[in-house]
Amino acid sequence: MSDLFSKAQAAVGAIRERTQIAPRVGIILGSGLGGFAAQVEGAVAIAYAEIPHFPQSTVVGHSGKLVMGTIGGVPVAVMQGRVHAYEGYAMEQVTFPTRVLGLLGVRTLIVTNAAGGIRADIAQGSLVAISDHINLTGTNAALGPNEPRFACAPEAGQRFFDMSAAYSPALRRMAHAEAERQGIPLSEGVYVAVLGPSYETPAEIRAFRTLGADLVGMSTVHEVIVARHMGIEVLGISLVTNAAAGVLNEPIHHEEVMEIGRRVERQFTGLLTALVPQIAAI
Ligand code: HPA
Repeated sequence: MSDLFSKAQAAVGAIRERTQIAPRVGIILGSGLGGFAAQVEGAVAIAYAEIPHFPQSTVVGHSGKLVMGTIGGVPVAVMQGRVHAYEGYAMEQVTFPTRVLGLLGVRTLIVTNAAGGIRADIAQGSLVAISDHINLTGTNAALGPNEPRFACAPEAGQRFFDMSAAYSPALRRMAHAEAERQGIPLSEGVYVAVLGPSYETPAEIRAFRTLGADLVGMSTVHEVIVARHMGIEVLGISLVTNAAAGVLNEPIHHEEVMEIGRRVERQFTGLLTALVPQIAAI
């Protein structure tokens, strides 16, 4: 039981002992966005500590529960809290829950996060659909022996896999259409991932802007890499909790990240709740 696939199977077994729900859509909630889990109907909440091999979050604002149930009649698995590489976790651990979601039957993953806004027109409190990413964490979650048994779709589970449409254009179009219907401003941008936990320096942010990044954060890209390895479709939504370092002449605080999350919660919840049934219908 020591290889990654067996560990993921053990986690799936423990979850299936608690609920019959076979989730179609997985949702990973970022910092300050955990409140969305209250939308799940018939919820069965399983603490990460009760799931074999599941990593435990050490960050304030990440509660550490897998919430299974339905949204608009669609079976979902919602991760209330994630772990990050900066907590000292290996890539394999950071992405373990994503592997488990895939084995549970999730075919679409909605990844959400708190991010700093690099592009001038991306204001604090805005929601942004991630169009692409730049992985500057210096590592990759698919490192190590390839495991084709993680494939959830035909052609998936390959050693080398395509990332040219990692953030599904169809899902992005759907998100924009729904945001427009609800009158929620939703822009699009490229997310650059850094390791953290320090926020960036102004010089780093200037460099990232030159590289083509619009948003910066410390999560998400590895989950997306693993999801694409498995053949899972991805929608990424960032909540911009602050202007990135040097954009405004102000220091960045984690409390601000949490506060903005609470403020934007209603828009975020409205958007995601409406999107889940649409996603499941395709
Ligand atoms: N930088 C990196 N990660 C973040 C930020 C930021 O400015 N804001 C929220 N997460």
